[in-house]
Amino acid sequence: MSVSLESYWDDYARPKGSAGSANPVSSGASQASATSVDRGFGWTQYEGHGPGEELLCQPQTALELGCGKGNELAYLARKGVEATGVDLSGVQCEAARARWADVPGLRFQQADACAFLEQAGARWDAVYSIWGAVWFLDPERLLPLVRARLTPGGVLVFSQAPPVEGCYGPQGMYGRGFRGESLPVQRWAYTPAMWERMLHAHGFDHVRARVLEAPDPAHVGTLLVEARGPGRSG
Ligand SMILES: C[S@@+](CC[C@H](N)C(=O)[O-])C[C@H]1O[C@@H](n2cnc3c(N)ncnc32)[C@H](O)[C@@H]1O
Repeated sequence: MSVSLESYWDDYARPKGSAGSANPVSSGASQASATSVDRGFGWTQYEGHGPGEELLCQPQTALELGCGKGNELAYLARKGVEATGVDLSGVQCEAARARWADVPGLRFQQADACAFLEQAGARWDAVYSIWGAVWFLDPERLLPLVRARLTPGGVLVFSQAPPVEGCYGPQGMYGRGFRGESLPVQRWAYTPAMWERMLHAHGFDHVRARVLEAPDPAHVGTLLVEARGPGRSG
């Protein structure tokens, strides 16, 4: 029987050096943000680089998909935002709850992001993902679910790696290597223009997708996508 995706992400969440923790999808963001929320809110793999929480348009409520250890959510909650994090990994959620136990208005739920959105009764002013679940879910399934759970005019913002030129759509890899147990892991890669078309087709507007240059332009940049759900007139 094949091992589950949940176990893959649990291994990813464990401290580096522990069994099975080597991981080819890390943004480096976890390590960079492991110690403090004081560094602020960022979207890129380079600390202090690029825009911050202003892209969320001052939400009262926010949902992060694939929140990891919850550093950005804690940052928002400390500013009074009612903040919810969803992550497939129980290891991540437990670590997040322990780390931020003293922060009010913050909760973490272990779940697949699509399953969570399908059964959610609430709506959020901002749904976002920082190299998180949006990267690892089929947008054709995810985008309608997000749209349905945004308050009128609410925002969707996410970041991830830019696509490798010519390699678009689902990208597969074996999460336990070629000699390990069979563990297919997928993520989805598109150009900014492809994301813009897809978001418009799913009823989002004010769509802006771009690749933010790295501090050293020779290094890997960051794909950053912003969109608004329908609803608020004027
Ligand atoms: C590359 S990590 C990024 C974590 C965090 N946003 C950060 O920057 O440190 C991706 C996260 O997404 C979570 N994830 C992956 N697929 C998911 C899914 N289908 N539903 C919810 N979370 C998921 C993983 O468990 C992991 O915590």
